[in-house]
Amino acid sequence: MRIAIMGPPGGGKGTQAEILSEKFSVPHISTGAIIRAAIREKSELGIATEKYIAEGQLVPDELVIGMVAERVKDDDCKDGYILDGFPRTLVQAAAMEENDIKLDYVINLVVSDNVIIKRLGGRRECKVCAAPYHVDFNPSLKEGICDKCGGELIQRPDDVPETIKERLSVYHKETEPLIEFYKKANLLINVESCDGIEKTTEAVVQALGVKG
Ligand code: AP5
Repeated sequence: MRIAIMGPPGGGKGTQAEILSEKFSVPHISTGAIIRAAIREKSELGIATEKYIAEGQLVPDELVIGMVAERVKDDDCKDGYILDGFPRTLVQAAAMEENDIKLDYVINLVVSDNVIIKRLGGRRECKVCAAPYHVDFNPSLKEGICDKCGGELIQRPDDVPETIKERLSVYHKETEPLIEFYKKANLLINVESCDGIEKTTEAVVQALGVKG
């Protein structure tokens, strides 16, 4: 199963990607998480991308394309993958074809900007394994601690109101055109992601036509 999950920042891409990755036993590949890990490690990629993330801008296409093209060659991707946050521009989508990165489905999570702004304020993320949580909608069992690996839960630095606004504006301009692109390619599945995580997963699983 080769799936890309798209949608606005905070739309639930990471949450659904994590669930589908477990369900189908294929890796969850989040370009945002790879970049944040690189920034923490102060690697070459981290140094090159830090300012874009801090400003809520997209990282240059050539950096992310190379990153994903290499990652999907890994052995654990041979039965598929869940791409979270890639592609995000028409240039990236075209480069997938050139790099033989195939997709069976593109899930587009539909959420209004107002819901996003409220949601991202309560989002927390594991500092170690990047699993996503929400203080109200998806709390960890023990406050501030990741259920999966025991890592510390933190608030992302780009989850502040001004940067959220910028990320939404970049999404509408750069990423939304992909909806039409994948509709034409007959790969698009639209799923509302406003009504709780479980209901969203049910709708995704139903749309994929697999058992829940
Ligand atoms: P990235 O990490 O991908 O961030 P994003 O797109 O801004 O998306 P988020 O991670 O904020 O949200 P999400 O949709 O995963 O939602 P989540 O599941 O966490 O990218 C960060 C940056 O990296 C970008 O700004 C860019 O600079 C760069 N980058 C990454 N990929 C790139 C690319 N391809 N090209 C160029 N640059 C790139 O959910 C959010 C919250 O809501 C959570 O707290 C969750 O618990 C809760 N929640 C989720 N679903 C529901 C639901 N259905 N109901 C209620 N609550 C829910």
